[in-house]
Amino acid sequence: MSKDKQIEELSANGLNTRCVHGGRIEDKTWNSVTSPIIQSTAYRYRETEKRGYPRYFESPNQEIVVNKLCALEKTESGILVSSGMAAISTTILALVKSGDHIIIQQEVYGGTSEFFSEVCRPLGIEFSFVKTSVKSINDAITDRTMMIFLESPTNPTLSVLDIKNLVSLVKDKNIITVIDNTFATPINQNPSQLGVDIIIHSGTKFLSGHSDLCSGVVLGPEMYIAKIKSTARSLGGCLNARDCYLLERSLKTLNLRVNQQTNNAVQLARFLFEHPAVTNVFYPGLQTSVYYSIAKSQMNNFGSMITFQLSDDYNADTLMDNLSLIIPASSLGGVETTVSIPWYASHQKMPEDNKLELGITKQLLRLSTGIENIGDLIDDLSFALSECRLTKQSFG
Ligand SMILES: Cc1ncc(COP(=O)(O)O)c(C=O)c1O
Repeated sequence: MSKDKQIEELSANGLNTRCVHGGRIEDKTWNSVTSPIIQSTAYRYRETEKRGYPRYFESPNQEIVVNKLCALEKTESGILVSSGMAAISTTILALVKSGDHIIIQQEVYGGTSEFFSEVCRPLGIEFSFVKTSVKSINDAITDRTMMIFLESPTNPTLSVLDIKNLVSLVKDKNIITVIDNTFATPINQNPSQLGVDIIIHSGTKFLSGHSDLCSGVVLGPEMYIAKIKSTARSLGGCLNARDCYLLERSLKTLNLRVNQQTNNAVQLARFLFEHPAVTNVFYPGLQTSVYYSIAKSQMNNFGSMITFQLSDDYNADTLMDNLSLIIPASSLGGVETTVSIPWYASHQKMPEDNKLELGITKQLLRLSTGIENIGDLIDDLSFALSECRLTKQSFG
């Protein structure tokens, strides 16, 4: 079947239907409604050519989840690995070699930046960190540029890149485009429809959604996935059958969860925008955001991550201490609302000057909105904000 036909078939149903039924298998042995967990690491090779070994990405549970994810991201193929960082590192090591050049947005997840400095540099892979703008990226292209690594919206300042415009500029230059779509989720953004070649997710976040599973996903055309799979076999970071099953179960409610999380985020962002303790709200769904129009045109919805700058008259630690529903935690994407200070969490290892250049201060807080009732979240945040104002004495 042609790639286009396959993608068309995968995307034919509604989103909830694809979440529930995408990739489903008929269990003819036990007639189970949910997928059996096939723990086997060995298969009768005389009966099947398809199954060999889990580390080769050939287990039935991997296949089921990959098919569901392909239906959601509208891609031809994919692999499941043991973390988001495994997805990122495997993709880069599979497609780029010493002497090649990669362009990366400055504002990517801290772990991704570290990977370039700690792993790519010693391997002789060249890279340039650039601002989140089509012009900056285009200006940084050299004749050795093999890959452009994107993240939109970015972590933590939620900048949005005009993806279609960028892809159209580099289309004829033989450059592979890769995007970390973790923050947006396949519900709120489908980069394959904007022309991006490879889509990565930390499955640890929204895809699993319950803060209990570490996993990573790479999706794209089979010609790239075959190459990535081959490297991944050598690196050895496949996802085990039980975790594949957990991920499959989580994905069945992905659309429901992400819609509720996004609706909550829109309302929380408006609440924060009006609050005197907050000097800036970074959320592309606010009409005052410089990214509002581009986000509206390329995303299905604005996502559920919000970052805000607390005024210097308020204490971020006291705010955390006074929250009762919202949990201070450094991960994101779960059904529970969490809050973190990227300075000390996701971007802890980034040099201070770089953090400040990106607008990451000790007063910058990142919220990952969960599925709770919005009134309860606003009450919780409102109380904590009212308690964290510094008194005149503490200024002294
Ligand atoms: C945007 C983004 N990409 C990738 C990762 C890495 O994912 P993992 O922790 O599953 O390796 C993270 C982790 O926080 C992230 O926020």
